[in-house]
Amino acid sequence: MASARKIIIIGATSGIGYEITQLYRKQGWRIGIAGRRTELLAKIRSEAPDQIETAQIDITCQDAPNKLAELIDKVGGMDVFLLSSGIGSQNRDLNPDIELSTVQTNTVGFTRMVVAAYDYFKRQGGGQLAVISSIAGTKGLGAAPSYSATKRYQNTYIEALDQLARMEKLPIVFTDIRPGFVKTDLLKNDKYPMLMSPQYVARKIVKAIERKKRHSVIDWKYAVLVFLWKLIPNVVWRRLPIHN
Ligand SMILES: NC(=O)c1ccc[n+]([C@@H]2O[C@H](COP(=O)([O-])OP(=O)(O)OC[C@H]3O[C@@H](n4cnc5c(N)ncnc54)[C@H](OP(=O)(O)O)[C@@H]3O)[C@@H](O)[C@H]2O)c1
Repeated sequence: MASARKIIIIGATSGIGYEITQLYRKQGWRIGIAGRRTELLAKIRSEAPDQIETAQIDITCQDAPNKLAELIDKVGGMDVFLLSSGIGSQNRDLNPDIELSTVQTNTVGFTRMVVAAYDYFKRQGGGQLAVISSIAGTKGLGAAPSYSATKRYQNTYIEALDQLARMEKLPIVFTDIRPGFVKTDLLKNDKYPMLMSPQYVARKIVKAIERKKRHSVIDWKYAVLVFLWKLIPNVVWRRLPIHN
């Protein structure tokens, strides 16, 4: 195991992060996984206790960077950091609790973890920092304002860190993964078009990380969609019912 590559996946207890964990496990990586649900973390570890280490981390809490550092120690280092944690809901009523908790997790928690990973790679002299944002960041989505705005924040933050790393001559590779709609708990059985399975999306993400892609829209159908909807002028966009 000493020469195995090492990945830390935050938000691995369900959905896309869980499926990605399974793929890295099959590839023989040392893996550190985190999330809030300890019973799920223990269950995932029990399937490969020699390969997987766990930590209960809530990215909205201030102690999360310390817990990340402890997890990295348990794994024996970190070559790739992947942040999959995120929440999102349709919220046409603009329930303030939903809007603000989305901001807490997807921007404050996101920044906390990405900064901690960046600092680690800075000290280590390099690494790959990957995040799962979304195509939802491409445009303001009326049915999910906080979700789409926080995903745009994530895109811009990674773009900025990429430039900062270059300014500081740090060999950190950044990968911003933008999936379309994926059938996971996050969608809460709301109706979405062109749903993809988390297994399919996880395979595409592992490939994008391996190829050190700077951005990756998953999959090609969504890449076409995003290309087209970026061309739509705002005067038209504001009249489009994007979700039912
Ligand atoms: N599903 C989609 O259609 C879709 C599309 C594009 C992008 N994405 C993005 O993909 C990522 C993964 O979502 P998913 O679809 O796989 O949904 P999911 O099954 O709900 O997974 C979300 C993961 O985030 C973790 N998480 C949530 N809040 C957290 C917190 N405060 N601290 C630490 N971990 C936290 C959850 O773990 P715990 O509950 O155990 O903490 C869980 O492992 C999210 O960033 C999401 O925005 C999803």
